[in-house]
Amino acid sequence: MDIQEKIENLVRDKRTQIPTLPVVVNNILQVAGDESTSAKDLADIIIRDQAIANKTLKLANSSYYGFSSKVDSIPRAIAVIGFNEVIGLTIGMSVFSAFNQKASNNTLDMRSLWIHAIGCGTAAKEISKRTGSNVTEQIFLAGLLHDMGKVILSVYFPEEYKTVLEEVKQSQTPLFRKEKEMLGLDHALLSGFLMERWNFPDSLLLPTRFHHSSTACPLEYQRDAMIIEVADCLCQRAEIGNSGNPVIVNVGNTVKELKITHSTIETLVKELKKQLSEIEAFFEVIT
Ligand SMILES: [Fe+2]
Ligand SMILES: [Fe+2]
Repeated sequence: MDIQEKIENLVRDKRTQIPTLPVVVNNILQVAGDESTSAKDLADIIIRDQAIANKTLKLANSSYYGFSSKVDSIPRAIAVIGFNEVIGLTIGMSVFSAFNQKASNNTLDMRSLWIHAIGCGTAAKEISKRTGSNVTEQIFLAGLLHDMGKVILSVYFPEEYKTVLEEVKQSQTPLFRKEKEMLGLDHALLSGFLMERWNFPDSLLLPTRFHHSSTACPLEYQRDAMIIEVADCLCQRAEIGNSGNPVIVNVGNTVKELKITHSTIETLVKELKKQLSEIEAFFEVIT
């Protein structure tokens, strides 16, 4: 079996040891996909999972959101943070904890990767707002989880991935290209496989799967894939965390497609830089 097959089998074969997500995630995903559910339905689900409920409250009171008064209940958190964003947060936190203990090796610095991921979710929300898109929980969550494939590679294929990471540094090639060349697939595809395994909806899976190849994304989700692609690049430019990629990928065409001006890009980078400590505060809460 070659390395590509081994990686694919690990993620796609349901008998392997990839972490499963807590029941709360499926329940939340159901709420997210059903327009008739209310904030109370969502609050009821979250309250049943103590760990998630506590972290949601902590996050609502962290400097990331910067609310002036104390948020002391889940319904209040949903009211101030927003229904969709709470959905994104709770799922993101569950995925994070599923891998947290496993990701202790030093192939890729996990703290830096998660800071990059939170930054990307934050930037994706901001780009959505500025380009007149509806800000959905999917866009934040797709940003937060877009590089999950790298976690899989670091945790389950540390030796092989270390070689890839060393090679990119030397050759100054974008990481996703080198992964494809050396492993036969890239982390974006792997993130997509993982979401498929977890039964995540297409609205989340496709923008993630195509975040390095947005022109190939099915049209319905292409815009979201483009937003993640640009958000990823902005985080790199603003030096928010580190995702192991040494080269800033040129996303000029995607920026044009999204009709984002040069000055907006510069403003977004500046704002992201300023948000670093809030993004770090977010990370401290979810760990
Ligand atoms: Fe990526
Ligand atoms: Fe990334």
